[in-house]
Amino acid sequence: MYTALNALLDLPQSDLGPQLGRPEVPSPPPGASLSLPGLVGNTPVLWIGEPLVPGGRGFWAKLEGSNPGGIKDRAALHLVSAARIRGDLAPGGRIIESTSGTLGLGLALAGLALGHPVTLVTDPGLEPSMRRLLACHGATVDIVATPHPVGGWQQARRERVGELKAQHAGSWCPDQYHNPDNVHAYAPLALELATQLGRIDVLVCSVGTGGHSAGIARVLRQLQPDLQVIGVDTIGSTIFGQPARPRLMRGLGSSIYPRNVDYGCFSEVHWVAPAEAVWTARTLARSHYATGGWSVGAVALVASWLARTQPVGRRIAAVFPDGPHRYLESIYDDDYCHDHGLLDLAPPSRPDTISHPTEREVTCWTRCAQVIDPQPGARLHQRAGHRQGR
Ligand SMILES: Cc1ncc(COP(=O)(O)O)c(C=O)c1O
Repeated sequence: MYTALNALLDLPQSDLGPQLGRPEVPSPPPGASLSLPGLVGNTPVLWIGEPLVPGGRGFWAKLEGSNPGGIKDRAALHLVSAARIRGDLAPGGRIIESTSGTLGLGLALAGLALGHPVTLVTDPGLEPSMRRLLACHGATVDIVATPHPVGGWQQARRERVGELKAQHAGSWCPDQYHNPDNVHAYAPLALELATQLGRIDVLVCSVGTGGHSAGIARVLRQLQPDLQVIGVDTIGSTIFGQPARPRLMRGLGSSIYPRNVDYGCFSEVHWVAPAEAVWTARTLARSHYATGGWSVGAVALVASWLARTQPVGRRIAAVFPDGPHRYLESIYDDDYCHDHGLLDLAPPSRPDTISHPTEREVTCWTRCAQVIDPQPGARLHQRAGHRQGR
């Protein structure tokens, strides 16, 4: 499945990390795995119905929380192995990346599997348990103190990555926001969905770097050109043309304009507020056992509405990027939710609608069927720059 990675696994044993290349271990029995990358992928899909969607209707959720770290394990392994094959990352070279957590877990895993030290630059919003988890997997966690005056925390983190790269000769930054390998990494996920579900009419994805929505849509559209793709963002995010505001939800949303977002692939975008995502994630936890974080709550809210309102028989697939464990101190903590005004607030049964992203600033669940790239000229210019070697 991970073609580039498999090529690496054929390297001499001396070139591999400590988890790999154990000659005394016999061939694994079916379903067993000798190496960390073997744990990633082939995640299950689950039918989500009552109480979010009554009347026998529902949608299929791809449970990416079944990966060791989450959906970004796929991206991390692909980014690192592609960089090694391309020669951008030498054996043993340091990986330095800006992350709000999930890619960090994947990079920690890729670092262990392939023998690279990992430094993760994040901000004070990172959950303490996640900070500990990243550290216990061997990553160095570097926390920026203040947001950038214009580009927010994300820009501050990216600038810190630049400083650290200058300090570590031979280090490499995956650049998940702009590196096209972060899109290509999701081809296997798309093929899994196609195998598991057959025809898919509607795909619902959260958008942060834009990687998984673009990568899955690209492959599924080749199989089904009329696939409808719905993007899910948080209020306060700039990605789809709203003004930058402080954001509580992590994972989805951005304060910059990631070039991996494929604006042309979306037929509409929804912005979701934190309380709406919390209510939906908690409802999923009580009714389906399978739940997750902010993006799971937001995606499930939108997918449930689609399942209630689209013609019967349309097959809807939604990607749940992670599981609930990281959010025990936020979404699933009554005190936290009470303090942030998030507790027991059922969302409306349908979103507000605006006709253009610039019509007004949205503060609650809102949809827009006109999807625009807020910085089309800048993106073309920057994409050319990325090709010429970042
Ligand atoms: C938990 C979670 N959900 C959703 C996303 C958005 O995914 P993408 O970056 O592929 O757009 C991320 C990205 O970091 C994430 O960590």
